[in-house]
Amino acid sequence: MSGKTATLNLPDGKAVELPVIVGSEQEPSVDIRSLRDATGYVTLDSGYMNTGAVQSAITYLDGEKGILRYRGYPIEELAEHSTFVETSYLLINGKLPSRTELDAFSKQLTYHSLIHEDMRHFFEGYPPTSHPMAVLSSMVTSMSAYYPDCLDRSAPMDLHITRLLSKVRTIAGFSYKKSIGQPVMYPRNALSFCANFLHMMFAVPAEPYEPDPVLVKALNQLLILHADHEQNCSTSTVRMVGSSGANVYAAVAAGILALWGPLHGGANQAVIEMLEEIQKTGGDGHAFINDVKNKKNNSRLMGFGHRVYKSYDPRAKILKKMTDEVLAHLGIKDPLLDIAKALEEVALHDDYFIEKKLYPNVDFYSGILYRAMGIPTDMFTVMFAIGRLPGWIAHWKEMVTDPKSKIARPRQIYTGETTRSYLPIEQR
Ligand code: ACO
Repeated sequence: MSGKTATLNLPDGKAVELPVIVGSEQEPSVDIRSLRDATGYVTLDSGYMNTGAVQSAITYLDGEKGILRYRGYPIEELAEHSTFVETSYLLINGKLPSRTELDAFSKQLTYHSLIHEDMRHFFEGYPPTSHPMAVLSSMVTSMSAYYPDCLDRSAPMDLHITRLLSKVRTIAGFSYKKSIGQPVMYPRNALSFCANFLHMMFAVPAEPYEPDPVLVKALNQLLILHADHEQNCSTSTVRMVGSSGANVYAAVAAGILALWGPLHGGANQAVIEMLEEIQKTGGDGHAFINDVKNKKNNSRLMGFGHRVYKSYDPRAKILKKMTDEVLAHLGIKDPLLDIAKALEEVALHDDYFIEKKLYPNVDFYSGILYRAMGIPTDMFTVMFAIGRLPGWIAHWKEMVTDPKSKIARPRQIYTGETTRSYLPIEQR
């Protein structure tokens, strides 16, 4: 509470004093929780364009200035110096770990990387054409059947958190191997978190495989950049589902499903499909940009625009540099990268995009990077889910450990028919 209030004057002559709450970065807000009881009014904010649904100490972002910080640490510093495991610890526990804490956390992740052998047979039930997000979400829901103590909200949560973080990576690796008809590769305890994922994706039993350290570093950075983004569609879904008391696996599975959509985590796949389409038609992107501006077929420049970032997305800046470095290291010349850079150049100088404050977001370059690493297009959103997992878990934990948290239950403005009498079918 700031001790200040805001006065809202209503058309019926009523005036109401509402408390002003100021966040730690001096963001002011008006607390409208008492509004309905005091006046009968509710607020309308479709798409939650300007609604603070929670008070959270996890991630700060300033869309105007292009700032993103996890627990106070700038994303640029974490991407440069941290690992995904350390950043996950930070998000979930609120502080950077000591050496002993990090070693213990890493060890836990290593020892919980296997999935129950019975779950391995689930993969056989899915058709080969299954989207890996469908497989991932249902496998995560199934985990609640294998670890039923998650239904007891008073039971310790650390083990479930470790299991989720570690096993989602294994499920992703196994589902990829299954989709290409290869035997699954079990995790190797000697490998780090990200190196182990590359091993499960790309090793084959017949040959030795050592993950490329440049790709391991790139994967760490990619996952760190995706690790949290405060109240986005999937994270709010996790909080909403978790607010009913549903277990952590159910809440995270719901987040995975929300992430799947092309306007959210599915954008990285949509960007590659868009670039491939432009490449197929032999264009340089100019005609496509015109179609987007004319809203032809409701097309959008995928990987551009963000609900919150209105100057630039700091994650996109880091990713663009990393994409160049990784492609140079691998000696790959990807024509899609040339098309992407040309599109970006055109869009950044075009009035349509400038006026609407549309800039590349994190997904504009991530797909090209994943492609270079050998990850297939339909796995891109799964990669996003692996990265976002610590953020979802941190928000779920923040909510369930807050004694004041309530079940999420928005209001609505009803616009349907007023009361009318039921008519027998012959009279309609
Ligand atoms: N290409 C062309 N026009 C766009 C784009 C785009 N990528 N994004 C927004 N616009 C236009 C809209 O057509 C609209 O124009 P209008 O005012 O003439 O109707 C205006 O900009 C505002 O767009 P909204 O959809 O209202 O903005 P909103 O904040 O709701 O949407 C979103 C944000 C969903 C990210 C949007 O910019 C978009 O669809 N981008 C493409 C998909 C994408 O890259 N998603 C990934 C987001 S990042 C993430 O989830 C990790």
